[in-house]
Amino acid sequence: MTPVQTVFSPSLPANSRIGRFCVTRELGRGTAGCVYLAHDPVIARDIAVKTFTPRLGVAEKNRFERQFINEARAAGRLSHPHIVTIYDASSEGGTTYLAMEYLQGRELNRILESGHRYTPDQVASIAWKIADALHHAHSREVIHRDIKPSNIFIVKDDHPKLIDFGIARSPNRLAERDAPPDEPYTMIGNNRLLGTPNYMSPEQAAGKPVDSRTDIYSLGAVAYEMLTGRTPFQAERADKLLQQIAYKAVPRLTEIDARIPAALSHIVMKAMAKRPEKRYQTAEEMALDLKRYLLKERRARRRVRLELPSAAASGPEWIAQFGTLRLRAVAIGAATAVAVASSAYLFLR
Ligand SMILES: Nc1ncnc2c1ncn2[C@@H]1O[C@H](COP(=O)(O)OP(=O)(O)O)[C@@H](O)[C@H]1O
Ligand SMILES: [Mg+2]
Repeated sequence: MTPVQTVFSPSLPANSRIGRFCVTRELGRGTAGCVYLAHDPVIARDIAVKTFTPRLGVAEKNRFERQFINEARAAGRLSHPHIVTIYDASSEGGTTYLAMEYLQGRELNRILESGHRYTPDQVASIAWKIADALHHAHSREVIHRDIKPSNIFIVKDDHPKLIDFGIARSPNRLAERDAPPDEPYTMIGNNRLLGTPNYMSPEQAAGKPVDSRTDIYSLGAVAYEMLTGRTPFQAERADKLLQQIAYKAVPRLTEIDARIPAALSHIVMKAMAKRPEKRYQTAEEMALDLKRYLLKERRARRRVRLELPSAAASGPEWIAQFGTLRLRAVAIGAATAVAVASSAYLFLR
């Protein structure tokens, strides 16, 4: 597949200024500029600054600039523990930039590429938090439209942060006079694809209009890869891949790995239904199902732990029975003591 194009100027050296911020080092590269670690001398804190410095023709430059400002407007409306916080956006000395919370951790795509496999519970926990973040965004009429592992930052353990609202749609976005309302933004000049289409929804892949349910599909595709270790569809050429996403049935997760819990597989498959009306209709519904799944799993594990104390687990059956009976006796004893104490209190009062 055609690799991501680099369409911006080389990075700034340390100690350069972007507005009032002092550059420390480069953190990453975006589609239209670099992201730097920088220091804010006024608030005395480290921040991340995303710059916009594309080397493009006028039409594409204008489009990227609109996306950039859309990002500030869309993400600036949001305040959620699993969405990066935007502090400021400005244009100074020919550089347009976005100042945001500095995240320490790794993008999910790098973690997956390194061969790390998450447990089903960790996948459910991360997906639940992202679904909750999407519910927050959607209820403020912001659609992310580019949910993928490289836009999910894992700050610690299973604490994700959603970044990059560059192609988000928000109600107060700039009017797109020279672009049709639902043009897939991941296309740049000459129909070249920018980034990976692996997580695009079928409606995005077919160039149809999208709504908030596009994010639900993409989150399903991310969870699918986290659980199976592979993307739902694979093709050498981008056009073939888009065709598969738009029309081919998603291979069942349990066919790839029979150990994946059926209940979790069901949630992911529902999120990834081809037709938006067959998916979760809101990110909140998906978040609730993931939470229910997690609670059920945790309860089941606690029950196993209670019924099989570690000493009894490896010993003969009568020891396990003894463990369970002893627990029951303690519970009954405690309940009786509480009942006797309350009757005595009422009687003596
Ligand atoms: N707030 C942040 N803190 C730390 N690193 C960041 C932050 N935002 C972006 N990055 C880094 O910069 C890269 C590109 O940022 P992103 O917003 O995804 O750009 P693009 O819109 O071009 O995809 C990310 O993959 C990440 O490595
Ligand atoms: Mg990105």
